[in-house]
Amino acid sequence: MSESSAPKRVRKRHFQQARENGIAITGLTSYDALTAGIFDEAGIDFLLIGDSAGNVMLGYDSTVPVTVDELIPLARAVSGAVSRALVVADLPFGSYELGPDQALQTAFRFMKEAGAHAVKLEGGVRSAEQIRRVVEAGIPVMGHVGYTPQSEHQFGGHVVQGRGEAAEQVIADAIAVEKAGAFAVVLEMVPSEVARRVTETLTIPTIGIGAGPHVSGQILVWTDFAGLGGGRYPKFVKKFADLRGQLLEAARDYRDEVAAGTYPGPEHSFE
Ligand code: KIV
Repeated sequence: MSESSAPKRVRKRHFQQARENGIAITGLTSYDALTAGIFDEAGIDFLLIGDSAGNVMLGYDSTVPVTVDELIPLARAVSGAVSRALVVADLPFGSYELGPDQALQTAFRFMKEAGAHAVKLEGGVRSAEQIRRVVEAGIPVMGHVGYTPQSEHQFGGHVVQGRGEAAEQVIADAIAVEKAGAFAVVLEMVPSEVARRVTETLTIPTIGIGAGPHVSGQILVWTDFAGLGGGRYPKFVKKFADLRGQLLEAARDYRDEVAAGTYPGPEHSFE
């Protein structure tokens, strides 16, 4: 949402209004108070405490090992640092698949213990009952279909979903999410044309990550968009900064100045 259309506090109704008025919604992941405060000040509409924390914060090689107890302190830090953005907490793998009761219990924890404003869970048709139950309890739910990272091993790696005939499954999943009462749905790593069809079919906003431009908004993992991570980036990522390069240079300068005895100088020392 642009500055002129920015509400004081983003609510789920603003997502719907944005979609209806053709205003793009922006989201980033965040896992700590410092980045949450910066992204909130920048006017990012929603912050996701993604289970991508497993990869980028906790050093796991996938999101599969992430637990609710690991995400709750991160979500609390984020919700405590924002004054405008909607805070969405991811339900990690194993915390909702057993059924609607388990999903609701986990969602309650994120709302009560972490101050989240909404939760996100993966899966379309297979997760519809969970979404319905959580929504009926008064908790806004964001869906997530297409490539769902918690099913990485089922998919056989990071594979674009919805190519060819598989497009129908992505569309059916998105429809199931909307019918179950979700206020928005993330479309991850699907062809642009499939994202366009989903967006045209649904009435709720679609949030893309690797889904091209024909969606209601975008989300990126913050360490990707800011260029903090080393190694290869997914094709859909644009690096809006080179934080890794800047931090590396700063750390080397610091090391060199300490070694040379030029830091700390008199201006950094007490009388
Ligand atoms: O965990 C996460 O960061 C996510 C995004 C990829 C949408 O689910």
